[in-house]
Amino acid sequence: MTKTDLCKMAIEAMNSSYSPYSSYKVGAALLCDDGSVYTGCNIENASFTPTICAERLAIFKAISDRKYNFSMIAVAGGKDGKINGIFPPCGVCRQVIAEFCKPDFEILLVKSKNEFDTIKFNELLPYSFSPNN
Ligand code: THU
Repeated sequence: MTKTDLCKMAIEAMNSSYSPYSSYKVGAALLCDDGSVYTGCNIENASFTPTICAERLAIFKAISDRKYNFSMIAVAGGKDGKINGIFPPCGVCRQVIAEFCKPDFEILLVKSKNEFDTIKFNELLPYSFSPNN
């Protein structure tokens, strides 16, 4: 699984987005250390608060399958499913990543169909509050 392939899976996962309220389609693809990949999409709700982000859904799907070791996640998103630059993880998703991922966990931020930025988790959320605390 190359980083480019993982980004393609995140882009593909955008198609499953249920986002009638914001029209933002978001997809994520999480690579586990055993080579398996879990995808997620954002799922919105008429009451707004129960909305879940693509990144958290991918992580929770993996945890529910008792996968606990992850190396990277690719994230893609955009209004009406059109990618127009990076779609960085929200604060709640960053906190969930802090729970389950190592500081050198990588986040691939899809910029376009063929481009992505790479950032390590400890750069995305420095001084995170995690199980180590
Ligand atoms: N969203 C994600 O899926 N991931 C993020 O990290 C940021 C926000 C979703 C939630 C909502 O459905 C839409 O994007 C607009 O906020």
